[in-house]
Amino acid sequence: EREEKAANSCCSLDDLKRLPKCHQGLDQLSFSKTHTVLIDVDIFNIDGSVKAQEGRDMWHNNFVKMPCSPASVMTAKTGLLKLQNSGVKRWGVICKELERLAKKKEVTVDNVMGAIMEYNPKYKGQWSFDALSTFIKIIPEVENYYPSLFPKIAALALKLHRCLKKAIPLLQKGQTASIILSQVQIACLLANAFYCTFPHRNTSHPNAEYHNYPTINFNSLFGNWSGRKKEKLRAILHYFKTVTDDNFKGGLVTFERHCLKDADIPKWRSCKEVMSDLHVTSDGHIETEGQGMLQVDFACNLIGGGVLSSGLVQEEILFLMNPELIVSRLFTERLGDDECLIIKGSQQFSHYTGYKDSFEWAGPHDDSLTHGKRDEWGRLHRHILAIDAVHYKLRSEQYSMIKVTRELNKAYCGFKAYDKSEPDIATGKWGCGAFNGDPELKAVIQLMAAAVAKRGMAFFALRDDTLKKSLQHIHHLLTTQEVTVGRLYGYLEDYCADQQRAHGSHLSLFHFLFEKLSMV
Ligand code: AR6
Repeated sequence: EREEKAANSCCSLDDLKRLPKCHQGLDQLSFSKTHTVLIDVDIFNIDGSVKAQEGRDMWHNNFVKMPCSPASVMTAKTGLLKLQNSGVKRWGVICKELERLAKKKEVTVDNVMGAIMEYNPKYKGQWSFDALSTFIKIIPEVENYYPSLFPKIAALALKLHRCLKKAIPLLQKGQTASIILSQVQIACLLANAFYCTFPHRNTSHPNAEYHNYPTINFNSLFGNWSGRKKEKLRAILHYFKTVTDDNFKGGLVTFERHCLKDADIPKWRSCKEVMSDLHVTSDGHIETEGQGMLQVDFACNLIGGGVLSSGLVQEEILFLMNPELIVSRLFTERLGDDECLIIKGSQQFSHYTGYKDSFEWAGPHDDSLTHGKRDEWGRLHRHILAIDAVHYKLRSEQYSMIKVTRELNKAYCGFKAYDKSEPDIATGKWGCGAFNGDPELKAVIQLMAAAVAKRGMAFFALRDDTLKKSLQHIHHLLTTQEVTVGRLYGYLEDYCADQQRAHGSHLSLFHFLFEKLSMV
């Protein structure tokens, strides 16, 4: 009976706000100092057509250094072995190589590698292509469309200077700023990433210019063969197959970096909000059952985590199903504690089954069936929120109010409604897999952040029935007793103190809260 009562205090999934239903009209698309539009706004606002915004190349610290920039030259230092070539424009070399591939009907992995190494000579002998070549060898012939796909990716990469004329600003630490790009522009950038053309992006040395950015060139995807690589390549190459089709049009996608200002950080101890609506389920996934909601990406502070190497958990899978998300790695500096990235309008291209080593690409996904409609800015109704939890080497580290407050601020930064009519939140065991967090503590932290952000929440406990039931029970007690966020924060302080005492009770957080709340 107690369980039933608790479940009843939660809402049903249908009670939560979702896109496109909760969407309200947007103002006309416009640019500002912090909102860079890379397509021609005037033309877009007249008839919705998409053309590159005119602009200047910027070989500058605040912008993406483009492979097609006239300032990108090959020097002995940046990686040219043959000195006589130093000072040669790198884009010229890239074009020569990729044009050669683009002209062919089919190309081999050796051809792909040969081209890439011509303009990345410093990495000869370092970069391996064994995963890509093994992949091509073992794929059954009927499925092996790849030799004829590589030329098309090369042709797409070659359009870069026509496709993106205005410089792409970097989304830098401490700055709230956003970028709007077309899906075709994203495809062209990713085709360049595939062919490893981005300059200055190949070293992670602490003094390297982009050391605080994720990697973007795909070389790490092509080496170190494993079963994971096989499925990753199937997903990524399926994306390229779709976007190199002449019929591919797509719309626009925005990438928003939000940085909480000190004044926006809640004074948690004195917050008066009570819990928002909650739906808890142990069935389904964030990206399917939580469709149309603000879908949480359990992120790494370097966005996309191990998507281009061997990582294959929630974030990497999300990025493989929605490869346009990968382009965020090009311009998103490592997220700070009070920052998040929100991506609106990206398309899902694939399905999957499994997780980690059992992950498999399960075929194409047609977004038009579920997400066919676009908003006034040509974006699909899909909102993805990247927030990175703290990675705890030791589980005990997380029971400190410094850490709890960090996670509260991080979640709040993501959950806060920055626009009108935002959907509710779809999340789950954020930070509780690879990052080793305590699911009970993380659930309470997310509830508190959602309460202050005044948004409902769907919590996907992923087959964890015990967590589902106990979270429903806790939410029931918190709502019936009208416990405020501030009071709950006080309980967390007590709980952390208790955990840190050598002879503390060491109850789970939920048990601790059950005791507190049933004493009242
Ligand atoms: N829907 C709902 N829950 C899920 C889903 C899903 N689609 N997928 C997984 N879970 P994890 P973290 C559950 O480990 O601990 C990446 O490398 C599942 O129970 O991905 O925040 C990033 O780049 C899982 O154990 O997130 C970061 O570097 C739990 O969510 C790092 O991992 C946590 O998923 C983040 O690790």
